Amino acid sequence: MTNSQAFSAVRISDKVYWVGAIDWNVRNFHGYQTQRGTTYNAFLVLGQKVALLDAVKAPFKQELLSRIASVIDPGKIDYVISNHAELDHSGCLFDVVDEVKPEKVFASAMGVKALQAHFHRSTEVTAVKEGETLDLGGLTATFLETRMLHWPDSMFTYLNEEKLLFSQDAFGMHLASVERFAEQIDDALLDAEAAKYYANILAPFSPVIGKLLTRMEKLGLPLETIAPDHGPVWGRKGPRILEHYRRWAQQKPTNKAVVVYDTMWNSTDVMARAVAEGISSADCRVELLPVGGNHRSDVATAALNAGALVIGSPTLNGGIMPTMADALSYLKGLKHRSLVTGGVFGSYGWSGESLKLLEAQLGEMGIESAGSVKATFVPGPEVLAECRGLGVKVAEALRAKLKAVQ
Ligand code: FEO
Repeated sequence: MTNSQAFSAVRISDKVYWVGAIDWNVRNFHGYQTQRGTTYNAFLVLGQKVALLDAVKAPFKQELLSRIASVIDPGKIDYVISNHAELDHSGCLFDVVDEVKPEKVFASAMGVKALQAHFHRSTEVTAVKEGETLDLGGLTATFLETRMLHWPDSMFTYLNEEKLLFSQDAFGMHLASVERFAEQIDDALLDAEAAKYYANILAPFSPVIGKLLTRMEKLGLPLETIAPDHGPVWGRKGPRILEHYRRWAQQKPTNKAVVVYDTMWNSTDVMARAVAEGISSADCRVELLPVGGNHRSDVATAALNAGALVIGSPTLNGGIMPTMADALSYLKGLKHRSLVTGGVFGSYGWSGESLKLLEAQLGEMGIESAGSVKATFVPGPEVLAECRGLGVKVAEALRAKLKAVQ
């Protein structure tokens, strides 16, 4: 079997085929741990004109072309539509364009600029506007600008007759699977990976997403299929992912705290456990994430819709543990607005700068601190009681915040 025969398209409908690539190997997506790999979804639309929606990451070009060739001669593609210029969807776009020589390439106005800034090509890319339609002969595509979901160039393409939304990164997840439809995959896995994707990629743009969902509702577009650029295609389970997005986009705090910490000689670890017991004793859910064993992207996922963040680090060379600096820098960028209260703790030997530095991190994230606890070298019973007390204070502060927003 040659490479060109190795891969087949998957039928979404009589007029739409999935022609993307499955990346079983990728484990790092600019800092996000993709422990289940991913897919780069591209779609072929068969009107009287043939359109390719998005491309795939550069090394997967042959897989894309092979899947297209299982349906039609790739040279018959008339239009290439770039919904999103990030390299996982555009990496081989112009190589494919060179090969299939379409009549036209389309992108949003910002997409035209982004593609130029990435590839520095003379190939003409036509800018399309919000609401503009493209006649595919028997099928009509409508373009919807979705700026900052999650890049300035991002847009959706809606295929009217099929009631199908090509939503690029939105409603996607990093999940390599042979199954192409959400209906074939367990809900628990879908929910976990969709939440991880939202928490790690889309969370900073939650206000934009909230407005977009409202706009979509007002437009009243019938939606039978949502085809994102990563993970499974949503059919019957489409309302489920839309409902999740409505909730996540609100970024409302819930009665949950996350305790994120690292430890040097287990002192800060024992303190973390005592803080967590205090939180739990005050009827607040709590999740402990020692960053020695939890990836920064799992910390971000745990923080999605959590109300409290408690952070701990021993003092190391006048600073905090590098693992904590990593996790906090990443989390800060993701702007989880549900985190409204928190606290800090940590052990130290002689100087003890970590607490001040951790307090500063909470401040930069806009999180009010309910208190702090420090221990000299190894915490004794009194300090551990203080840690439990800190947990109780954080839970009470969160409860007060939740009451205020009800
Ligand atoms: Fe899947 Fe923003 O690229």
